[in-house]
Amino acid sequence: MPSAGEPPHPFPRTVSPGECERIRADELRRYLAGSDRPLLLDVRPTAERTYARIEGDRAIPLAELPSRLEELPKDRRIVAYGHYGEEGASAAKLLCASGFPRSASLEGGIEEYARLVAPEVGRYAPPDAPDGLLLLQLPRLETGCLAYLLADVDEKVAVMLDPGAEPEPYLALLADRGWRLGAIVETHTHADHRAGHAALAARTGAPIYLSHRSPAQYPHRGLTEGEELRFGSHALRVLETPGHTRDHLSLRSAGRVFTGDTLLIGSCGRTDLADGDPELLWESLRTKLLALPDATEVLPAHFGARHALVDRYVSSIGLERRTNEALLLPTREGFLAYMREGWPPKPAEFDRIVGENLAG
Ligand SMILES: [Fe+2]
Repeated sequence: MPSAGEPPHPFPRTVSPGECERIRADELRRYLAGSDRPLLLDVRPTAERTYARIEGDRAIPLAELPSRLEELPKDRRIVAYGHYGEEGASAAKLLCASGFPRSASLEGGIEEYARLVAPEVGRYAPPDAPDGLLLLQLPRLETGCLAYLLADVDEKVAVMLDPGAEPEPYLALLADRGWRLGAIVETHTHADHRAGHAALAARTGAPIYLSHRSPAQYPHRGLTEGEELRFGSHALRVLETPGHTRDHLSLRSAGRVFTGDTLLIGSCGRTDLADGDPELLWESLRTKLLALPDATEVLPAHFGARHALVDRYVSSIGLERRTNEALLLPTREGFLAYMREGWPPKPAEFDRIVGENLAG
């Protein structure tokens, strides 16, 4: 637990045997204020330094590091970092194996450092969507839900994922940006809150997309594994990830995956509401989501009370692979026991909420 005055850290931290040291954002802040100031090693591609950088750092892109080791001191602590943490961990591993024993990586990368303790560093997210794709994460504090709006900013068409029950904020956002809503997607039948697809579809005329497995009774279009939902020149690719519910979809887009409630930061969605199945969830996590590259951004549909919510709430497949309590269970049997025991009471009236969400 952080002590009084320290910022909360959203991710539990574990280090595998043989792995290089990883330090937290608040620890780096303290190191930089102390007498044994570490050498900061930014290993991102050079272009990414225009978004954010830490004063007094040194930049060697990860791809060049093996051939530039002689530029680094062997007797000084080195803290390597990239965007979210994976590149930094790779760099520290290389350094530790190359005679730089005091090397470490920055947990969560420069994004976590800027987000949690050093806003002056600047944020990674480019302000003008250079690839023409803009992603907005829209938290709802009253329900703990995260909705997403993705837009092709050139063609001014957007897709909404898991909208909340009140459409007005989304309509205002669309009007303000001049975007047309081309599609509404529900990742699954929600059991803990009233879904917003019906109200938003009624106001925008956008079609509703669900898993082809959904038992929903209102007009919708079914999505199947591998299918692409296009918006402008971009697309969401469907991964069927049943388990939390049987109709659960995850969606991939340009180096990120929207995981709904299948994979949450630090855990996964429960399977004892609606028609969930822990055995299906085990398969979905192992064969679909953990098959993605470690650098893939993870964008879930919920944030937890134990997590900080400061601007964008995001993780990565690699970080979850190392720290997520559900993914760290090594056996199928252990995972099934975890899913069947110890969960908090079911949300009030969850069966009524499911019924309403399936009706419209
Ligand atoms: Fe859910």
